[in-house]
Amino acid sequence: MDVKGFVMRISEFKKHFFLELSMLYPETEIQSFFNLLIEYTLKISRIDLALQPNLEFNKTELSFFNNALNNLKEHIPIQYIIGETEFYGLKFNVNKNVLIPRPETEELIRWILDNLKLKTQNPKLKILDIGTGSGCIAISLALNLPNAEVFAIDISKKALETAKSNAKRNGVSINFIELDILKSKSLPDYFDIIVSNPPYVREVEKKEMQQNVLNFEPHLALFVKNENPLIFFDKIADLAQNYLNKNGHLYFEINQYLGKETCELLEKKGFKNIELKKDIYNVDRMIKSLKL
Ligand SMILES: C[S@@+](CC[C@H](N)C(=O)[O-])C[C@H]1O[C@@H](n2cnc3c(N)ncnc32)[C@H](O)[C@@H]1O
Repeated sequence: MDVKGFVMRISEFKKHFFLELSMLYPETEIQSFFNLLIEYTLKISRIDLALQPNLEFNKTELSFFNNALNNLKEHIPIQYIIGETEFYGLKFNVNKNVLIPRPETEELIRWILDNLKLKTQNPKLKILDIGTGSGCIAISLALNLPNAEVFAIDISKKALETAKSNAKRNGVSINFIELDILKSKSLPDYFDIIVSNPPYVREVEKKEMQQNVLNFEPHLALFVKNENPLIFFDKIADLAQNYLNKNGHLYFEINQYLGKETCELLEKKGFKNIELKKDIYNVDRMIKSLKL
């Protein structure tokens, strides 16, 4: 270590980082991990880093990067390593108790907001997010709809703690409620919009999943039994029939293989104007329906 306490050139560490991960991840992904870690720790962009080729890590930074490298070798998701992620242009704290928000869910938010823009007034909406996890849906909607009153439910106390920290971090007020939706006979209020990205991955689909998701993301957030894959949709649709206001909307993120079945379920429960929408990967991913 030299007198200023700097211990290693970043460019040198980068070579080591790439070499160590080269058998485990594609190069573009390793580059993106490195950029994220640099931005998170040094608060500089990759362009700034490229412009300062002699920049060095101090002892603390080097130890953080070595730890991160070891965690990446174990396939721990980068978002859990740095403890945060970006969703809909906002920063969210994440940890092993919450699902890492996905780009598909950002598309669901965009769809809800676009549909609301089509309406002329901006009424005081009441919105409920069921299975809020990190709070990403509830918080993004609350920030983009400042007149709305937003409620969010989850069965997991620890997920709700993270969601609360995210509401604070993003400066919004949400009514968080700990509740097992499958056992619930009622909802805390009447709503104009109910939205949910519930657990929907069947056990049989486990084999299609990446190790980092399977081993580190909460199974409570992901999986449902093969025999009853629509259990959450069925229950939430029943509650929504009773607790959505007239002309209220129910939005779901869905299992890509069960688009038709989920639409039929909603039809059977009496929902109207059922729309199935694909995501950027061109698979069935979300549904909007109307309660008359
Ligand atoms: C797929 S995750 C969605 C998380 C977040 N809304 C998102 O879109 O990233 C499903 C969430 O439902 C919650 N959950 C699972 N079972 C539940 C139940 N019976 N009642 C309420 N919430 C439940 C999980 O804890 C998890 O946070």
